Amino acid sequence: MEAEATADQAAAEEIEYVSYGGEHHLPLVMKLVDEELSEPYSIFTYRYFVYIWPNLTFLAFHKGKCVGTVVCKMGEHRSTFRGYIAMLVVLKPYRGKGIATELVTQAIRVMMESGCDEVTLEAEVTNKGALALYGRLGFIRSKRLYRYYLNGVDAFRLKLLFPRPDPGMVTFPSTEERASKQFPETSQRESLSYYG
Ligand SMILES: CC(C)(COP(=O)(O)OP(=O)(O)OC[C@H]1O[C@@H](n2cnc3c(N)ncnc32)[C@H](O)[C@@H]1OP(=O)(O)O)[C@@H](O)C(=O)NCCC(=O)NCCS
Repeated sequence: MEAEATADQAAAEEIEYVSYGGEHHLPLVMKLVDEELSEPYSIFTYRYFVYIWPNLTFLAFHKGKCVGTVVCKMGEHRSTFRGYIAMLVVLKPYRGKGIATELVTQAIRVMMESGCDEVTLEAEVTNKGALALYGRLGFIRSKRLYRYYLNGVDAFRLKLLFPRPDPGMVTFPSTEERASKQFPETSQRESLSYYG
């Protein structure tokens, strides 16, 4: 009851977002995910994500308490470079304040800046909250995966595509862009200004 009162008063500016900072963050991430997600994960799974892609795990804190987390990865997938959101959790009393939106947005920004073409994830078909959240962020349902989870529930595979520049609209990169070669798809990034 006391925790809820504190959470109710938590203003958006009191929530601090940090990327994974080392072993001291691991138990915080594990506790949140173990408590709130139906799928059980081993410590090896957590380590796989946070050791290889520490810049793709974010934690939300309110007055020193970890109240939300997102865990992701990215890599080659067939002919694309794909970001993947593996876990997303916000503590119950802190929900409905935009914390998950901010966590996911921060991760997607890193994916875009790293050159990802798309972002995917799976969500239980019954998870109205998560489906609404990702729908608002521009994700579409690309597949239904039959009995995907250990609990027997189907999943939707959700996908966010970063638009490619229109080939008919040839634009020439500036000298700076050519020099850096980091973000050749200027028009693509502009059209996704939500994440910029
Ligand atoms: C899903 C979850 C991460 C959302 O966290 P959150 O911080 O409350 O989400 P946000 O406040 O950023 O919500 C943004 C939007 O998502 C939608 N949304 C979030 N939760 C919702 C719910 N329970 N019902 C309907 N829509 C919901 C709404 O459109 C909301 O915008 P609004 O508040 O302006 O209406 C949280 O409910 C949670 O941790 N659930 C348990 C774990 C889980 O299901 N993780 C996702 C696995 S795929």
